[in-house]
Amino acid sequence: MITYKAPLLNVENLEISYYEASKCSPVIYDVSFQLYPAEMVALTGPSGCGKSLTSQAIVGLLETNFKVTNGHIVYKGEDILHYDNKAWQQLRREEIALLIQHSLNGLNPICTVKKQMIETIKQKKEWLKKDIELYLHNLLSQVGFTDPKHILSSYPFELSGGMRQRVLLAMMLSLRPKILIADEPTTALDVINRDKVLSLLKKIQHEFELTILLISHDHKSVNRFADRVVQMCQGVVVT
Ligand SMILES: Nc1ncnc2c1ncn2[C@@H]1O[C@H](COP(=O)(O)OP(=O)(O)OP(=O)(O)O)[C@@H](O)[C@H]1O
Ligand SMILES: [Mg+2]
Repeated sequence: MITYKAPLLNVENLEISYYEASKCSPVIYDVSFQLYPAEMVALTGPSGCGKSLTSQAIVGLLETNFKVTNGHIVYKGEDILHYDNKAWQQLRREEIALLIQHSLNGLNPICTVKKQMIETIKQKKEWLKKDIELYLHNLLSQVGFTDPKHILSSYPFELSGGMRQRVLLAMMLSLRPKILIADEPTTALDVINRDKVLSLLKKIQHEFELTILLISHDHKSVNRFADRVVQMCQGVVVT
């Protein structure tokens, strides 16, 4: 097992509450876990236990009715919970990418893959127009496409669910994040494509030395791929 002294991300005693009218009730009570560089950690637990809320809090994307009411989220030694909008945006652009749940519907149906990938890459400051074609081809090859040119000119409806998930992964990787949070990246896929996407995440973890938080309620399949498993139950980390 790989052990490092300093975690890249440290979620400490996180509590998230839901606000409605004048009422405030905790939904997540005590979530603590660490991510060390270049490891893949699975966050599992039954539906509704708070996995997605935890991931949204880490990148500053909680819906308006939710607030962090206790605890810390420490990234590279700094508590990021005090961040303003600009700092959160920068964190999402440069450091932590979140592949949101149900993201398969997130691709624009009337734009080619190429156009959408370029839109994503433009967020990076060091974007170089002349190298873009090669960069896109490399990214698509890294996520297992043998004919990147064809994929770039395709529209999402021309691709299968597994292919779209790989395009989304390539888009996330184009930002060169340090941490990738993939929230249920395989639930919409059949068993064969599920294994393909998880094997791909494993390959990417090693090639990019990427730290991955893999969120899934499918305890069995993540056990095979993750280096460690963090188990949640009703708003609390139990292991
Ligand atoms: N928009 C919302 N309004 C009200 N309650 C919500 C909302 N989103 C989530 N919740 C509640 O917060 C809790 C945690 O939800 P969350 O989406 O984090 O669960 P999850 O572990 O990701 O579940 P799943 O495996 O189904 O994706 C649940 O009890 C849910 O009912
Ligand atoms: Mg969820």
